[in-house]
Amino acid sequence: MSEPGHAPVVGLAPAKLNLTLSIGPRRPDGYHDLHSVMVPLAIADRLSVARAPGGGDSLHVVGADGPREGGPDDLVLRGIAAARRAVGRGIEAFPLAARLEKRIPIAAGLGGGSSDAATALALALEAWGAGEAVGWTERVALAMSIGSDVPFFLVGGPALVEGRGDRLTALRAPVGEPIGVLLVTPAVAVSTAEAFRAFDAGGDTAPADPRTARVTSLHLADELRAGLPGLDLVARAGVLATANDLAPAAAALVPELRSFRRSLARRLGRPVGQSGSGPTLWALYPSLGEAEAAGTELEEALAGGELAMPNARPPRVHATTIIARHGTSGSDPGRIDA
Ligand code: C5P
Repeated sequence: MSEPGHAPVVGLAPAKLNLTLSIGPRRPDGYHDLHSVMVPLAIADRLSVARAPGGGDSLHVVGADGPREGGPDDLVLRGIAAARRAVGRGIEAFPLAARLEKRIPIAAGLGGGSSDAATALALALEAWGAGEAVGWTERVALAMSIGSDVPFFLVGGPALVEGRGDRLTALRAPVGEPIGVLLVTPAVAVSTAEAFRAFDAGGDTAPADPRTARVTSLHLADELRAGLPGLDLVARAGVLATANDLAPAAAALVPELRSFRRSLARRLGRPVGQSGSGPTLWALYPSLGEAEAAGTELEEALAGGELAMPNARPPRVHATTIIARHGTSGSDPGRIDA
């Protein structure tokens, strides 16, 4: 057998979609209690880690955000650093060289950076042969020290996310064929912190009735737990599209987002929702094939100038699916009930 770390350890870091996002009032610590049904998507970054030839951790990024060398603030290196803090003395946490192939649009409401961090944490532990040494509760705390969206990616499947992002309950994936998702990411930036600030300001930047998203979110979590057929999820898209409490805030920060979302819904003939703080917009389809066909048609319409875009640069259009499982599951959890 070879020594740990000589062969690269490889993992996929999927994107996430918030099917619902209900936000409670601002807490004394400045964060908000969430109630969000989150699902992983097939669109994923690919991360590999192996023993580094040099003395420190390193990161090489290729794809959408590269090629470039990563610095210590990169979420992959923060994930490795968090893993190193957790391993005990008996384990040699040697330096790691990470390689990230970026496919998920950046700063888009799809959780790409958070997923990279969670995957880096899990892969580093695996590379050091320390997978068993760090339990679920500690993994979640380490993930949370990097960001509120990071713990979700440790679950390895759909989950109800509560608290600041650290209370996780695994949910069953929609039953049946994988559901198609068309992602449309306008070329505009929405800062999550600013979106939460706009939410706190109230008025038009807060939802008209905070109960709407909460009731939908509670209901969807119950339905998924009980085993919701994928086609029924698609049939609920209209209600889900109204169940994101950060949508008014994102629209206030980027006013063109509201009209783009409306013209997109008209063009697709389907409800269009927003993932997280945006700007990525989504539509659900019964299959990947239907999402791909809609994506091709949409790209033609965008190229032909048929839709008013929020920016001179065209939005990124990508067809994908909701996935049931991915590979970074930790060792827990009593909470995993699927
Ligand atoms: O935890 P993270 O740094 O990813 O959060 C980004 C921003 O989102 C925070 O600064 C905070 O304003 C907001 N946030 C929040 N409540 C949460 C999660 C994030 O207010 N549960």
